[in-house]
Amino acid sequence: MSIAIIDPACPALISEHPAQVPPTAAVIFGATGDLTHRKIVPAFYHLAKNGLLPDDFAIIGFARRPKSDDEFRKDLGDALRQFSHTKPVDEEVWKKLSSHIYYFQGELDDPEAYKRLAEKLKTLPESAKIGENYLFYLATSPEYFGQAAQNLAAAGLASKADGTRRRLIVEKPFGSDLKSAQELNRTLQAAFAEKDIFRIDHYLGKETVQNLIYFRFANSIYEPLWNHLYIDHVQITVAEQVGVESRGGYYEHAGAARDMLQNHLFQLFTLTAMEAPASLDAESIRDEKVKVLRSIPTPSLSFLQKNVVRAQYGGGYINNKPIPSYRQEEKVAHDSLTETFVAARFEIDNWRWHGVPFYLRTGKALATQFTEINIVFKRPPSVLFAASSEDRLRRNTLRIRIQPNEGISIKFNAKVPGKAESEAVDMAFLYRSGFDHYLPEAYERLIVDALIGESTLFTRSDEVEQAWRLVDSIKSAWAQQGARDLPLYACGSMGPVESDQLLEKDGRFWIRPKEMAS
Ligand SMILES: NC(=O)c1ccc[n+]([C@@H]2O[C@H](COP(=O)([O-])OP(=O)(O)OC[C@H]3O[C@@H](n4cnc5c(N)ncnc54)[C@H](OP(=O)(O)O)[C@@H]3O)[C@@H](O)[C@H]2O)c1
Repeated sequence: MSIAIIDPACPALISEHPAQVPPTAAVIFGATGDLTHRKIVPAFYHLAKNGLLPDDFAIIGFARRPKSDDEFRKDLGDALRQFSHTKPVDEEVWKKLSSHIYYFQGELDDPEAYKRLAEKLKTLPESAKIGENYLFYLATSPEYFGQAAQNLAAAGLASKADGTRRRLIVEKPFGSDLKSAQELNRTLQAAFAEKDIFRIDHYLGKETVQNLIYFRFANSIYEPLWNHLYIDHVQITVAEQVGVESRGGYYEHAGAARDMLQNHLFQLFTLTAMEAPASLDAESIRDEKVKVLRSIPTPSLSFLQKNVVRAQYGGGYINNKPIPSYRQEEKVAHDSLTETFVAARFEIDNWRWHGVPFYLRTGKALATQFTEINIVFKRPPSVLFAASSEDRLRRNTLRIRIQPNEGISIKFNAKVPGKAESEAVDMAFLYRSGFDHYLPEAYERLIVDALIGESTLFTRSDEVEQAWRLVDSIKSAWAQQGARDLPLYACGSMGPVESDQLLEKDGRFWIRPKEMAS
């Protein structure tokens, strides 16, 4: 490992000021868990491989089960070889990084464990250079988030006024409704300064999501059209092909609205709809995102009945593989009313977007896995081509694909060669062929940002609360409806017919996934 200045190209950073990752001890709570193995440790490995970690860096894994440092390193090495997005793993880099990894056995609800942790942090071989600069990563079940922050504070490990860096990364979900999110915000803010709290939404770590800011504000061709005068409507889809698999226990209490709409979909929504920020600093960008949410009045019950669709998968086949119905999944009630699909129509009550619907949808066990934003422009007048066009001219559509095959394409009307007819064609940019740069995984970018104290790609407390305000109103409307209006959809479809009708009644349709294949 070597000390490095973060090159704006690798990973591509929005931050205006390149910064050095300081010598730090990163403590991962939940270190024997799935997220640590799949995402967090592979992210640290890639940061080390790209020269972004300093020599004086240590990782301490905190969990309950007994383990030696060597056993822990071996487990993480095995997981890295399985989950790394670049293969083969550079064993030299891993050997060096893993020599700075330690295991600490403790219970999250035991204040004494944090005191022992504080002692351990002072006696690491790297401690002399690290001083007391710590990053705590709460990769645990959410019920422990508040308690862990309180225990860190009681052990003298939380934010300090002396310039020592004490930072806290908090995984999702952040609360389960507005009230619990407010309580959690209060608890975390009693221990850590807001600038030191990094609430993860890994969608914000994706390069293509960050590119939305460049695409909109670093070009002059689209921003003048980015309003109600030219845009007919916007569609945002986060479609998952997998069902709930082993996560039924968690999902029963979450559902699609809490699990996906409150965070990932609203992040894409606000970045698409926000005004230009005064600068690229964290507060300016987050101020604009929050303004979007604040410009959506809390929907009434009758609005929700007309504009929000929920549904549950009822079994079927995906890629010829049988998928059970949601109610037959492990740890799911046989009469569960939890939605695995949600589609909603929102309007932003401001000058830019007056009268422009934003249709958001997400679901599990769908036909295909993709995340995409479609900006659909108003239909051009067809009078010139009326004689030759069987139908009216197609609307121009700007498609921003977040995953997979990240890229941007524009659909426009062109003349069919040899005929006096028009046909809609695609002009496409694919991220991977447009740049030969290394494309970092979301967690790499987010961890490095937390290490340097850059908050832009993390969710601020008021943003989380505004998103919960909207999701709470939806959930409480559904609670009042009980079992009414919970249609089933076939696995491998794109959701219930009610979702199509949501757009059809406005004379629109969902852009079909098969049109989006690269
Ligand atoms: N997995 C993912 O892909 C994913 C994606 C997005 C967000 N997340 C979020 O990340 C967090 C962790 O998820 P996960 O899937 O990694 O969970 P997990 O596999 O169940 O791991 C939980 C971890 O917490 C530890 N733990 C549990 N109770 C403890 C206690 N009382 N004291 C000390 N350690 C304790 C467990 O270790 P021991 O059993 O050894 O104690 C284990 O290391 C959750 O908030 C989840 O929502 C996960």
